[in-house]
Amino acid sequence: MDLGCGPGNISEKLSKEWPNTSVLGIDGSKEMIHKAKIRKNLQEKPLNNLNYLCEDIKNIKLVDISDKKHINLLVSNSLIHHITHINEFFECILSLSSENTLNFHKDLIRPINEKYALELKAECASKYNETLTSDYYASLQASYRADELRNLIADKNLVHLDVLEEDNKYLILYGSV
Ligand SMILES: C[S@@+](CC[C@H](N)C(=O)[O-])C[C@H]1O[C@@H](n2cnc3c(N)ncnc32)[C@H](O)[C@@H]1O
Repeated sequence: MDLGCGPGNISEKLSKEWPNTSVLGIDGSKEMIHKAKIRKNLQEKPLNNLNYLCEDIKNIKLVDISDKKHINLLVSNSLIHHITHINEFFECILSLSSENTLNFHKDLIRPINEKYALELKAECASKYNETLTSDYYASLQASYRADELRNLIADKNLVHLDVLEEDNKYLILYGSV
């Protein structure tokens, strides 16, 4: 299951990598799910194991998706910084996971200071347009630091969940809940 799947980048990769599993991409935006479905229909080989659902993560536990015991892998990419109340994210993964579910959630790290944030912004501006650059900068500012997530995990006593850092730019929440 791919939470906050957007246009389906990661969902498609999972679907192609593991054709004998069932992949579900979920996103709160109708437009994103629409895009994801269009992309799915444009694939050379049909991705019959891939489905999409439009739902806010805070309501996912309320809808009948599947037997949660069958979710082996729960992933997200660039979702966490979108969630205003981080507890909603944890409630969601807790309600969907069993002890057999591997959680893997990747997101940006909030830069350590404004100077570094501006350096990253400039790096982005050298490759992408103004809109993408300002979205990226806003995302950086909305993101978490690894220690903040570690503290939350400790408060919640989620001892099998860890936070890894990649290149001072990304964090990965990894393990089981
Ligand atoms: C930066 S995009 C990442 C898309 C995709 N994961 C990727 O890596 O290409 C974040 C996505 O999270 C979705 N999102 C944000 N808040 C959400 C929520 N509360 N419930 C479900 N989806 C949400 C947005 O609609 C958006 O498509």
